[in-house]
Amino acid sequence: MAVTRTFSIIKPDATRRNLTGAVTKMLEDAGLRVVASKRIQMTREQAEGFYAVHKERPFFGELVDFMISGPVVVQVLEGEDAVKRNRDVMGATNPADADEGTIRKTYAESIEANSVHGSDSDENAKIEIDFFFDEDEIVG
Ligand code: CMP
Repeated sequence: MAVTRTFSIIKPDATRRNLTGAVTKMLEDAGLRVVASKRIQMTREQAEGFYAVHKERPFFGELVDFMISGPVVVQVLEGEDAVKRNRDVMGATNPADADEGTIRKTYAESIEANSVHGSDSDENAKIEIDFFFDEDEIVG
């Protein structure tokens, strides 16, 4: 299976509870390697741009407010079939539906404060990585 990259965000509910290391350990234990990482305070403009695909959804405003409510850690993850591997360890969007042993089942507070974001396809992974990282910031 090919080694690919995906994009991850450790969200404000997780950074607020000092869970950056715990979440990253679960990613690493799942076979993903952190090849880029930075802690940032997203601007409203960045959050609106990043989640533009959801802008007609009723939860868009609250989603943006939440994503700028505190620092996030944006990461590039590398591994075999990285998008699926990451989605498997994240668990379902709504923690109530997430499997035991997943990040969201373990740590998420709600469907909004769900601790992590991960790309849903290789195509979107590239777009999302490019949104936050220059190529020279990624060291495999
Ligand atoms: P994420 O993978 O970051 O992509 C969009 C986010 O919207 C999603 O995770 C959820 O945290 C958030 N969200 C908030 N409310 C909802 C909802 N009702 N349905 C789906 N996603 C929601």
